[in-house]
Amino acid sequence: MRRIADYEVRGKRILVRVDLNCPVENGKIIGDTRIRAHAGTIKGLSDRGARVVVLSHQGRRGRDDFITLEQHARALHRIIGKDVTYVEDVVGPKAREAIKNLKDGDILVLDNVRHLHCETEHPHGRGEIIVHLSPLADYYVLDALSVAHRKHSSIVGFSHSMPCFAGGVLAAEIDAVDKVRHGRDVTFIFGGSKVEDSFAVMKRWLSDGRAKEVLVGGALAVLFLHAQGHNVGDSLAYLKDSGLTGKAAEARELLDRFDGKIVLPVDVGLSVPGAADVSPPAIIRQESDVQNIRKGQIWDIGPRTVERYVEAINNSHFIVMNGPAGVYELDDFSRGTKSILEAISRSDAFSLLGGGHTISAMERFGLDPRNFGYVSLSGKALIEYLCGEELPGVAALNENEKKFPVGK
Ligand code: 3PG
Ligand code: MG
Repeated sequence: MRRIADYEVRGKRILVRVDLNCPVENGKIIGDTRIRAHAGTIKGLSDRGARVVVLSHQGRRGRDDFITLEQHARALHRIIGKDVTYVEDVVGPKAREAIKNLKDGDILVLDNVRHLHCETEHPHGRGEIIVHLSPLADYYVLDALSVAHRKHSSIVGFSHSMPCFAGGVLAAEIDAVDKVRHGRDVTFIFGGSKVEDSFAVMKRWLSDGRAKEVLVGGALAVLFLHAQGHNVGDSLAYLKDSGLTGKAAEARELLDRFDGKIVLPVDVGLSVPGAADVSPPAIIRQESDVQNIRKGQIWDIGPRTVERYVEAINNSHFIVMNGPAGVYELDDFSRGTKSILEAISRSDAFSLLGGGHTISAMERFGLDPRNFGYVSLSGKALIEYLCGEELPGVAALNENEKKFPVGK
């Protein structure tokens, strides 16, 4: 995969597909981790004299997070410290005029590409965005692994019309995940509630014998404990409400098939009602061995489990963590997730952290991302790539290189 960092860009009009998709609350973007990451690529190209056109989506049609990119453009300006122009248009006359008028080093942000139906719905990823913007640009850069699993126009479509390259964020993310993909004896630590994603990675890595162990926490652990026949107390209602009881048979099958490789908690932190005379009613943490759970919900792993998991971390060369071990947003139930993250940050292993909640937990505990091998910006794309699947965005870049050779 050729990288834009290796090529001359001065004077070139470059379409840069980033992933500025941020969490949104009441119409405002909250959390700018992705904006900060891609700002580096955008600034780098601008500093080198390119004429930069930023393309991104935000949210999904019909949801509250489906907003324009105006706030993102302002955030980019703040972070980069250079002028950033925004036009509320993607392929219309306003956008096209603004692209034509760019000077060396200028940065232009177009509107949310998903405002065009063709972005997500064109069967071959060659919607009108490709038709209108291709004649106005010299190069295309894909900078986000986090969108590379989507066969959308702005991700795969430009590969038919101009030289395409990987940006720094995509390149770094691929390098990091490849380190793990080529590794053996990888320790996985899975939590959270994205059960299907965890199952997919487990099946892949446990079947070919390259996973050392899978340490389980979060709702995933509750499901496995239930599948193993343990009483999970009031967490059973949670499993039912979230449709996870339907996954119990598959969980049991995995435990049978990969005997001893899937490590479950031996004790847990239960949330039980505290004093009744306070308002709102207090919730307290109660430790319990998994054999003795009767009441309360499982909200964290217990201290003996933490000890076991930390020891595994200390004996690993490669670690992948995806999903928190408990309700890390509450101090009393954050101990498991915090201890695991702290141990990973201290260890010499190459570690890959993925999933929005894992990253939020790391930030909440004040842990420095530089103490981890790589902190991924991707969700589903990371899971698919870890499962060995070919991502359409990455495949498009690789094919493009043969079709549009460029001298350095
Ligand atoms: C994400 O946050 O998962 C990426 O930005 C991709 O968005 P999508 O899941 O809506 O395609
Ligand atoms: Mg997604």
